[in-house]
Amino acid sequence: HSARVTFRRVPLILIGSCSSAVLSAASVTTVPQRKLHHAVIPKGKGGRSSSSGIAATVFGATGFLGRYVVNRLGRIGSQIVLPHRCDQYDIMYLRPMGDLGQIIFMEWDARNKESIKRALEHSNVVINLVGREWETSNYRYEDVFVTIPQQIAKAARAAGITKFVHMSHLNADIRSPSKYLRNKAVGEAAVRDEFPDAIIMKPSEIFGREDRFFNYYANMRWFGNAVPLISLGKKTVKQPVHVVDVAKAIINAVRDPDANGKTYALVGPNRYLLHDLVEYIYAVAHRPFVPYPLPRPLYHLAAQFFAMNPFEPWTTADKVDRFHTTDLKYPGLPGLEDLGITPSTVEQKAIEILRRHRRFRYLEADLDETKPAKTVNY
Ligand SMILES: NC(=O)c1ccc[n+]([C@@H]2O[C@H](COP(=O)([O-])OP(=O)(O)OC[C@H]3O[C@@H](n4cnc5c(N)ncnc54)[C@H](OP(=O)(O)O)[C@@H]3O)[C@@H](O)[C@H]2O)c1
Repeated sequence: HSARVTFRRVPLILIGSCSSAVLSAASVTTVPQRKLHHAVIPKGKGGRSSSSGIAATVFGATGFLGRYVVNRLGRIGSQIVLPHRCDQYDIMYLRPMGDLGQIIFMEWDARNKESIKRALEHSNVVINLVGREWETSNYRYEDVFVTIPQQIAKAARAAGITKFVHMSHLNADIRSPSKYLRNKAVGEAAVRDEFPDAIIMKPSEIFGREDRFFNYYANMRWFGNAVPLISLGKKTVKQPVHVVDVAKAIINAVRDPDANGKTYALVGPNRYLLHDLVEYIYAVAHRPFVPYPLPRPLYHLAAQFFAMNPFEPWTTADKVDRFHTTDLKYPGLPGLEDLGITPSTVEQKAIEILRRHRRFRYLEADLDETKPAKTVNY
């Protein structure tokens, strides 16, 4: 409740005669005074027909995490601008997530600065969820994880926006074997440079109904349930986080006036050996688990074959490296609990993702029969 009360002041500051003290606290250079529409003055009881005071532009809303973020923004009564590059009929599922007229679709081109500027010109919050698991000939990891976030951060700052949320990755590291993770580290620094007050979210691998983590391993049943794992997955520790918790974290950070400039590490409550986690995935799906150790070079070779798929490659050498990276621990960074969220366990949510991987005769089988995965402390 207190978070809501504090947020209420924000649009009033933005709308009324902006005090220079507030502006200078938000940025060093002078930013133009923003004139926001009266529709973003908070009012109502907090449901989807009220006004939360948030007018958000969500870049990358058409992806996995996007639908959860838009849903949570919509249900509290926010205005949401959704820049997209696909046919708008492909994202009609997002339309009913907000009240009538509250969700606005617009086409954008990530390389066109003018279109970025247009997308955020009526917003007071910007959320960047742009990302891609594989490189294409048009967009390399450098573009998706560094240049595009940098341009969005720059445009947001120039427009005088005070809330900017950027998605990074828990294992973002310049020394990582994965190019994805190396570029995430560079992107994080680039965003901080452009927008020092940015809220950076570092989630571990995210699991949820449309994920490419649990579903990826469960789909290995196509290959006769044989799951290749480097060192049998016994040298990799994972701490996956549920997608709803990540979406909640983003919304709570937007509403928390103290979140600006912070970096959050978003992880689930338990750490598992990759082997035990995949074993649990197969147990919940009621499928036999047949892991076999595959040396990294051979795994890369197989992955390179899949990576030739011009559409959505099922796996890539980079994904193999990313999934076999042990999740880092950041005891110094705030996390889900600091945003008022109790993280969900894998055991609570896995069934939502994995029921569709069961055979018909096990569709309704009780979850209680499944032994929880063993957790580790390192
Ligand atoms: N999923 C995870 O486990 C995980 C873990 C840690 C961090 N993250 C990060 O969290 C963010 C969201 O993840 P996600 O799983 O929701 O990603 P996702 O499903 O792959 O969605 C990515 C979004 O980015 C857009 N996008 C990608 N390349 C673009 C380009 N060149 N121009 C314009 N739009 C582009 C996509 O638009 P189209 O639909 O048009 O392609 C889509 O809306 C990403 O930054 C990701 O790296 C994800």
